[in-house]
Amino acid sequence: MTQEPDATVPEVTVTAETAASQHTRIDVSGAAAAPMAANRADTQTVFHCDGVHVYYADFLALRNVSLNIAAHEVTAFIGPSGCGKTTFLRCFNRMNDLIEGARVEGSINYHGVELYQDEVDPVEVRRRVGMVFQKPNPFPKSIYDNIAYGPRLAGAKRSELDDIVERSLTRAALWDEVRDRLKTSAYGLSGGQQQRLCIARAIAVQPDVVLMDEPCSALDPIATGRIEELIAELKTEYTIIIVTHNMQQAARISDMTAFFSVQANEMGQRTGELVEYAPTSLIFTNPDDPRTEAYITGRVG
Ligand SMILES: Nc1ncnc2c1ncn2[C@@H]1O[C@H](COP(=O)(O)OP(=O)(O)OP(=O)(O)O)[C@@H](O)[C@H]1O
Ligand SMILES: [Mg+2]
Repeated sequence: MTQEPDATVPEVTVTAETAASQHTRIDVSGAAAAPMAANRADTQTVFHCDGVHVYYADFLALRNVSLNIAAHEVTAFIGPSGCGKTTFLRCFNRMNDLIEGARVEGSINYHGVELYQDEVDPVEVRRRVGMVFQKPNPFPKSIYDNIAYGPRLAGAKRSELDDIVERSLTRAALWDEVRDRLKTSAYGLSGGQQQRLCIARAIAVQPDVVLMDEPCSALDPIATGRIEELIAELKTEYTIIIVTHNMQQAARISDMTAFFSVQANEMGQRTGELVEYAPTSLIFTNPDDPRTEAYITGRVG
């Protein structure tokens, strides 16, 4: 793959360099080859998806999704339960690889590299594209070790860890609340604190993208507000894709919104599809498709 170098894009190499790795090193420092998102000529495209289908064995869960994800923006995925939001989100860091029978067809291009080609190391992809889940899932370890875990695996020196832990917890707006109890169990934190810990853990390895699957659904409104503020902060450094069932949340925090829906075939199989993808302000004030309007006004879904 030949590309022009682009000074605006940090150098990214999509494979682990361990001796054990069978994978070829792929340098994607020239990311300019990826087409820009429609109408957003001033933004850098991180993911370019074209004709993505996802199957679980014979079941087509998601059909023909094409969209671009822009850098340093928050992109929200909304739509009724079962329309494939989580399925699609998992495509961006090859988490679907871990599900028996799951298969992704079509093209997902990350900074100019085809994510699903054999040469790409999924472990390295997951370091660059982190994930925060619906339910906070700290490791059964201390607060400190939750954050230090990823950097240690990536080869960070002991002397660097204190700094990494402090920086990540500060960035996740949790440092002041936990600085005096770093060696205590992460399970002693409240749900909202645990979720901020999971965000801190995700950013401790300095990812490029953070995927969030309904990160506030288990939280009260105050904790939710803190996570929303955090997301707005984090997008200066990271590209964020978030699944949410909360329309107000999507409207408040996202720049772009993708609305997915489900279509049943004659056999009763329910396949998800992308209905509309546009700047969030447009989706919520003047959607193109009547299905989007019905959903955001609460008439269906
Ligand atoms: N591991 C799996 N194995 C088989 N089918 C699955 C699997 N995960 C999801 N599906 C199916 O794929 C379709 C899309 O599911 P998905 O979880 O992506 O929906 P969703 O939009 O995230 O829904 P929700 O809003 O309820 O979280 C559903 O029909 C679901 O049953
Ligand atoms: Mg889901």
